[in-house]
Amino acid sequence: MSDNLKIGVLVSGRGSNLQVILDQVAQGKIKVEVRIVISNRPDVQALVRAKKAGVPSMALPKKTGESREDYDKRLVDTLKKHDVQLVVLAGYMRLISNYFISQFPDRILNIHPSLLPAFPGLNVHQRVLEAGVRYSGCTVHLVDDGCDTGPIIAQAVVPVLASDTAESLAARILEKEHEILPKAIDLFAQNKVKIEGRRVLIQDH
Ligand code: GRF
Repeated sequence: MSDNLKIGVLVSGRGSNLQVILDQVAQGKIKVEVRIVISNRPDVQALVRAKKAGVPSMALPKKTGESREDYDKRLVDTLKKHDVQLVVLAGYMRLISNYFISQFPDRILNIHPSLLPAFPGLNVHQRVLEAGVRYSGCTVHLVDDGCDTGPIIAQAVVPVLASDTAESLAARILEKEHEILPKAIDLFAQNKVKIEGRRVLIQDH
């Protein structure tokens, strides 16, 4: 077995960020082992992508009436069973519980399609256009108990054009997501991330 960082990727849909991770792992660009891909929704493209890459994957739908915490207990058990050391939320569309966070302290990464702390939450691109800001972008951050509030690992900026629709802006930002998410994972794989309060220091050993 390799010494590479063991990651679990949580998804909910298309899985284009997952695909970039899978490709870069296959090409040896990032030295991690994808131990498990879990989707809260069955029949999503992300699960097809994992299967094609030969990576273990599963759908873990919420049971009727199940609380967020009980669902997350099943999720955490599954991640731990696969020896996951770093959890990557790659288009995972569920809020996670404090229980989940407590089980992976400073070890849950999320990609969000805005320049946090601006525009947390949902429906980001439409709100960006309505606010009239000139620049938007994306952020990889550690997950804490707030909504898109944890320490920031990496960001990328894109211009907002007068001709933009929510879709065109989302597409321009997605290209940058595909750059910074694998880079951020690689920083963890190389043990270069040091967290000091809200600030993240990138260390060169
Ligand atoms: C991305 O825009 C990500 O920032 C957001 O959900 C989208 C997921 O896209 N959280 P994909 O499933 O990785 O293609």
